[in-house]
Amino acid sequence: MKKIIFYSCCFVALILLSNCKDNKTVDVNQNEQYKSIDTLQELVARGSYLVNAIGCDDCHSPKKMTPQGPIIDLDRRFSGHPSDETLYKIDKNNIGPGKWIFMNNSLTAFVGPWGVSFGANLTPDDTGMGNWTFDNFKTALREGKFKGIKDQRMLLPPMPWQNFKNLTDSDLRAMFEYFKTVKPIKNIVPNPIPPTGL
Ligand code: HEC
Repeated sequence: MKKIIFYSCCFVALILLSNCKDNKTVDVNQNEQYKSIDTLQELVARGSYLVNAIGCDDCHSPKKMTPQGPIIDLDRRFSGHPSDETLYKIDKNNIGPGKWIFMNNSLTAFVGPWGVSFGANLTPDDTGMGNWTFDNFKTALREGKFKGIKDQRMLLPPMPWQNFKNLTDSDLRAMFEYFKTVKPIKNIVPNPIPPTGL
């Protein structure tokens, strides 16, 4: 009998030990590396570095056309597809699965089998991310949800959230804090146009 009790105790102890070990598994999102970044200023600098290196401007900032090609219009940085821009006529014959994907000169409007999508306003204005919480930002970039709200529609191409979902919590936080420091710009980006609306 004593033996049975002894072995049962050993068994329970083993289970407890293995649970402890499980709890210690490193969560990739608890990025140890940035624990030292404790001031907001450092966080914003890191966010600026990431946003610039990853290239959110590509699709979220209006451009000015030069002989060398489009350059970022710094006065309207991150304000998304301009609400007053008229789209060039779309030839429906060239769009569809296996056909072409088009974009406008500013790289803020995209035409493909999904219809037309428009780069969103990421500035801290009410028409951009002004009312967003960090949770909204995380949900948009990790789960590809419109407005960062779980029961909203999925974000359309070419927003590469499938890549961005691999960013750590601390990097996402840094980017979010950076976006809060850029110039707020009022611009209501048009709703996407479904393929049937072309
Ligand atoms: C290749 C183009 C492209 C790049 C690069 C890109 N985006 Fe986007 N993004 C889009 C498009 C297009 C939409 C709008 C999709 C839609 O309406 O469904 C969008 C939507 C978003 C949204 C959702 C906005 C809303 O109102 O729901 C967020 C947030 C966002 N992008 C953040 C970023 C960040 C941060 C970066 C850089 C790390 C980035 N995007 C880079 C194309 C891009």
